[in-house]
Amino acid sequence: MSKIIGIDLGTTNSCAAIVEQQGQVKLIPYKGGEFIIPSIFAIDDKGNELIGHEAKRQWQLNPRNTVYAAKRLVGRSFSSDVVSEMQKSVAYEMRPGERNDVVLDVGKKHFRLAEISAKILNKIRSVAQDYLQEKVTRAVVTVPAYFTDRQRQAVKDAGKMIQLEVVRIINEPTAAALAYGIGKNLHETVVIYDLGGGTFDVSIIEIRDRVFEVKATGGDIFLGGLDFDQAMIHKVIEDFEKKHRIDLSTDPVAMQRIKDLAERVKIDLSSREQAPFNVPFVTMTPQGQPLNIDFVFTRKLLDELTSHLVDRTFQILDRVMGDAQLDPGKVDELLLVGGQTRMPLVQKRLTERFGRSPSKGVHPDEAVAIGAALYANSLEDNSNLRLQLLDVIPMAIGLEKAGGAFHVVFPRNAAIPNAKADRGDDELRQPDGSGDAHLPGRPRASRPQRAARGFPLQRPSRRARREGAPGNHLRRQHRGDPHHERARRRDRQADEDDGACDAALSPPCWRFAKASHRSTRKPSTPPRRSPTCTPIPGSSRTGWAGIWQIRSGLPASATAPSGSSSICLG
Ligand SMILES: Nc1ncnc2c1ncn2[C@@H]1O[C@H](COP(=O)(O)OP(=O)(O)OP(=O)(O)O)[C@@H](O)[C@H]1O
Ligand SMILES: [Mg+2]
Repeated sequence: MSKIIGIDLGTTNSCAAIVEQQGQVKLIPYKGGEFIIPSIFAIDDKGNELIGHEAKRQWQLNPRNTVYAAKRLVGRSFSSDVVSEMQKSVAYEMRPGERNDVVLDVGKKHFRLAEISAKILNKIRSVAQDYLQEKVTRAVVTVPAYFTDRQRQAVKDAGKMIQLEVVRIINEPTAAALAYGIGKNLHETVVIYDLGGGTFDVSIIEIRDRVFEVKATGGDIFLGGLDFDQAMIHKVIEDFEKKHRIDLSTDPVAMQRIKDLAERVKIDLSSREQAPFNVPFVTMTPQGQPLNIDFVFTRKLLDELTSHLVDRTFQILDRVMGDAQLDPGKVDELLLVGGQTRMPLVQKRLTERFGRSPSKGVHPDEAVAIGAALYANSLEDNSNLRLQLLDVIPMAIGLEKAGGAFHVVFPRNAAIPNAKADRGDDELRQPDGSGDAHLPGRPRASRPQRAARGFPLQRPSRRARREGAPGNHLRRQHRGDPHHERARRRDRQADEDDGACDAALSPPCWRFAKASHRSTRKPSTPPRRSPTCTPIPGSSRTGWAGIWQIRSGLPASATAPSGSSSICLG
């Protein structure tokens, strides 16, 4: 069996690591000694596919055929707000795929998001193979703690496309805590503040030697360094338009040059008080006279432009601290992960909040890959590394009631795996216990009417319950019902827009959904995918109340380990 490598598949940069024979963790170097591979895919004008540094080198001149930040689009539907927001800031073309997913047009070819992720994973794998001089077929891949089940599945699918088995998916902050804590015999409560290129995560983890227990987690998968760059870009083009009455935002090559420089100036301002922002010959006047961007950025200006983004991270941090009932004074260490945490404003605000400087115990760019490699090592048959990882769900899972209200079964930060007996409230229980859908604005159907419509009158079959996919069993019965079909389409759309975790449940109008679902959502149908949360087979239920368990999915690290694995989860 090949070794399992750890991969940090980042929005802007990816990195891989491995535990070597002597138990040392080693970042896998790319040629030239770099450890970071830009998560960029491009096709040049001769039709060659470029990935990583090669793709980044040409992105100024070839912006339309250079894909970056694709991780932000993973698991999204084309019609979601996130996609339209992204379309405003990138030059590559997007269009809807067959399942309303996002398809990218690059170099006159079409790529699904999973294919782009697969290409980046493949590049990392081939760098690892060159370094290890052996085939690599298995990896532990990290994802943001706030990734939904669908987004996690998309990462696994990307691995499958290149015959790379993603043996486990773990959360990025958890991986960073592993990198920090393994082998030090610590007994500490640590806060991990992870602000990367595209996503923000915060986790509170209690470390008791080899036991890593996540107490609470939260995040925003659309908040990262790219948004800081965007704030600078906005300022520069606004200033240019004021001076010259020319809107640069419609010129992809100019925008790419500005974008590239914005990131470099932002990084400079982490170590300097001011930096020039000069782009020569960025465009021409209608009379053919060349124009330059001549701007000076100060750190103060950058802080003003981006302080609202830092505020957003603090709102999430406060909520997570509240969930864990943790006082800043009781935190043993504050770990900073992700390149954007190098920004002085972020460090200053965190120092003020916690009354001490952040720990220097982990490298912000490398900790996640190192943690993934340590975890991967513990999964090897011959490993003597014993770990216990206790994780939580980042968002509530519950039942959507007729009318759109949300009945929480598992609150956010519930430990996983988990089981719960829930009898529901009166609204949740159906008078005859049959599970008919009560559609708002419509009288409750009689039993014969329900039968005629194909709604189930009995519990799902034993087999369906055993397989945990009663939705599949029911979906067949619903086909042809126009009301049902309409609701199904509407709900699928809304579901995808939210990027919600979508576990199949037996009742047609109830399903597991994340707490932030719009309360006006009409009741609908069993969704399409395998369940995250299922009734325990054989449990007796009254109406739709019952005993439920989180078996897998959110996060995938909750999945019970197989075989002789040394990891014990929950
Ligand atoms: N010195 C610095 N000061 C400010 N920002 C920095 C600095 N160094 C790197 N960054 C920013 O950090 C971001 C990249 O961080 P990182 O590599 O951790 O992200 P990622 O892992 O690709 O993304 P994610 O974890 O969100 O998927 C970029 O936006 C980059 O501009
Ligand atoms: Mg990262």
